[in-house]
Amino acid sequence: MTIQKWVLGNWKMNGRLATNEALLSQLGQIDTDEKVAVGVAVPSVYLLPSLQAAQNVLVGAEDVSRFAADGAYTGEVSAAILADIGAQFTLIGHSERRQYFAEDEAVLAQKYANAVAAGVLPVLCVGETLEQREANQAQAVVAEQLSWLKDAVLLNQTVLVAYEPVWAIGTGVVASIEQIAQMHAFIQEHVLSLVGNAANIRLLYGGSVNADNCAAIFAVAHVDGALVGGASLKADSFANIITAAI
Ligand code: G3P
Repeated sequence: MTIQKWVLGNWKMNGRLATNEALLSQLGQIDTDEKVAVGVAVPSVYLLPSLQAAQNVLVGAEDVSRFAADGAYTGEVSAAILADIGAQFTLIGHSERRQYFAEDEAVLAQKYANAVAAGVLPVLCVGETLEQREANQAQAVVAEQLSWLKDAVLLNQTVLVAYEPVWAIGTGVVASIEQIAQMHAFIQEHVLSLVGNAANIRLLYGGSVNADNCAAIFAVAHVDGALVGGASLKADSFANIITAAI
């Protein structure tokens, strides 16, 4: 069975050992018939226990170092370390990283390349702010955030891009179906023009996805899944989103 949808959670700076384990155990019981890849991005200290607890759930990092080689980079976690403990994917360029840690395109391109080289699947997050959307710059901003993919993607690689409009993250204001459809069509075409059709392009939507709005979002062309924040911390809500993707 080939994967039809990806449903990834992003725990951000949340979680505790006991609740993580309970959540993972509930998610592991969902039978997706291998049609849905289910995963959670977790704080780095929870990677190993989550990997040990997870069954039928991918476990990934929320970020990765821009430095590739081991060395004197206090506080950093490299792609090689992620690969060593078995982390399956890493988010790259989440808007909170861009905003609070001033991550720019050059840094993100390095992170992406490091993940690819280490065999950790990168999930590139893109999206415009409200100001940028109102100034009619949404597509231009996203195109810029995708621009370096051309040099980063290897043949036959899975290219996972999460479109997360900044104004929809954690606000309860989900993008409209029309906005999602337009941007996903644009991203699909743009990524295709950059990396060619040898790569396997999969686009996720993120931003206030919940159990009530997910089915309509999953039905949109070029929406291959979701990146879920707040609702991924609640077992029942996340389970309902996963079930809607089957
Ligand atoms: O990465 C997922 C995220 O930023 C969306 O968060 O809480 O709006 O689902 P949320």
